[in-house]
Amino acid sequence: MAAILESWEANARQWIDVLDAGELDSRELVTNQAVMDAIARLHPSLVLDAGCGEGWLCRALHKKGIDAVGVDGTTELIHQARLRGEGHYELLTFEELLEQSPWPMAYFDVVVFNFCLYEKALTQNLLHAATRWVFPHGKLVIQTLHPFAALGTGRPYEDGWQVESWAGLPRAFSHPYKWYYRTMGSWLTLLLSAGWQILALEEPLHPRTGRPASLLITAQKTATAIRH
Ligand SMILES: C[S@@+](CC[C@H](N)C(=O)[O-])C[C@H]1O[C@@H](n2cnc3c(N)ncnc32)[C@H](O)[C@@H]1O
Repeated sequence: MAAILESWEANARQWIDVLDAGELDSRELVTNQAVMDAIARLHPSLVLDAGCGEGWLCRALHKKGIDAVGVDGTTELIHQARLRGEGHYELLTFEELLEQSPWPMAYFDVVVFNFCLYEKALTQNLLHAATRWVFPHGKLVIQTLHPFAALGTGRPYEDGWQVESWAGLPRAFSHPYKWYYRTMGSWLTLLLSAGWQILALEEPLHPRTGRPASLLITAQKTATAIRH
């Protein structure tokens, strides 16, 4: 199993407790609502929440009358999502999704990745494949760490692998893992090369720090991707 998923398996319980207790203020104050608003603006009927975790977004969409399918590779998180109801959940890693997607062709109005794209090649492959999972005018929503969060840390402003040691989280997490950092330009180039044209690029601000809490991108298929 990939190191990232091993880490999520090991930390799933703490993650659920952190979310249940509302301990991540950037989520409570900014990013949850921001991704909900970005999706709601697209008026979808059916959303694929890829890397859905314990399913909070599927449940929130359901409350707005939007159907959602959640997929995630962490057993405990999908177990919790199913226990909590509202939505359809599949235990599938992204790698499995690419190999044996239950949706070989257009099926969703929107595919969303909320804070779950950590890899280099896998992210490229997923974004490319996602053009086939949405209808011709279907949309993609990605929320991720804002690239400028790395400025001032002493690291060069360039793509590269970094170690996530879960620092800053209020509980004891274990199993650090590597994730692939992308600059703003790299995200935009990646999306275009995968067949997505940017419709909106948002930088929701944290009310306490005045700094961006995330990078939130909405995209639609390019004309070339629609033809293929
Ligand atoms: C920060 S959590 C975000 C979960 C959810 N999107 C949310 O907003 O709460 C990252 C999620 O990505 C999932 N994930 C990471 N790598 C994955 C992979 N290769 N296949 C499937 N899921 C993966 C983890 O299991 C975890 O649920």
